[in-house]
Amino acid sequence: MKEEYISSAKIYDPMLYLALNPIRLAVMEELSQHKDSVILDLCCGTGNQLKLLSKNGFKNLHCLDLSEAMLSVAKKGGHPIKIYAEDATKTSFDDAVFDIVMISFAIHEKDRETQENMIEEAHRLIKEDGIALIVDYTFDEKTTRLGKMGIDLIEHIAGGEHYRNFKGYIANDGLESLIKADKFELIKNSRKVFNGVTISTYRKR
Ligand SMILES: C[S@@+](CC[C@H](N)C(=O)[O-])C[C@H]1O[C@@H](n2cnc3c(N)ncnc32)[C@H](O)[C@@H]1O
Repeated sequence: MKEEYISSAKIYDPMLYLALNPIRLAVMEELSQHKDSVILDLCCGTGNQLKLLSKNGFKNLHCLDLSEAMLSVAKKGGHPIKIYAEDATKTSFDDAVFDIVMISFAIHEKDRETQENMIEEAHRLIKEDGIALIVDYTFDEKTTRLGKMGIDLIEHIAGGEHYRNFKGYIANDGLESLIKADKFELIKNSRKVFNGVTISTYRKR
């Protein structure tokens, strides 16, 4: 994979802190009853979400990404998190080994086939009755104009193929069109950031 995050990995967390911190806290709140669960963050980037969980008593944390630049930031701080350099569409883990698999802000930037493969892989890795937690953009009538403009601007700056994939994701109704009802049952959607971001939790069927 082309290293897209080489120049932004070090500034990713501080640059996006104001937008992402309320989401990180909301994700932790969603998972507050699962502190002993085995959790995998697929496409973890800088590991910022799991570092927050680790500081707040979550114990069995695993994270995975393909970007060496992102993973070198994730490794900073000495948190007790297992970190893997792997492709989220075809990981080396056995079937059904995680209670919870999360994917945060990674689906929208990929082409359709990769999006489907990531969700399929998450499904394979989750234990029976386990949970998928997906954080990504939603543009609908509830999303404010300011929300749409701000998110579009951030994605525009990311540029190129990433921006084209984001546009395609939005045009295809985002996560709704990717999640298959025979694989996952929706537990809850909660909206953040001018209703432009949804934290979705699903139970594996
Ligand atoms: C926008 S960042 C989001 C990072 C993090 N989840 C967050 O919430 O801040 C997307 C991440 O997905 C990773 N990624 C993209 N394709 C991947 C793949 N096939 N396997 C593993 N990681 C991938 C990128 O390297 C990047 O770190």
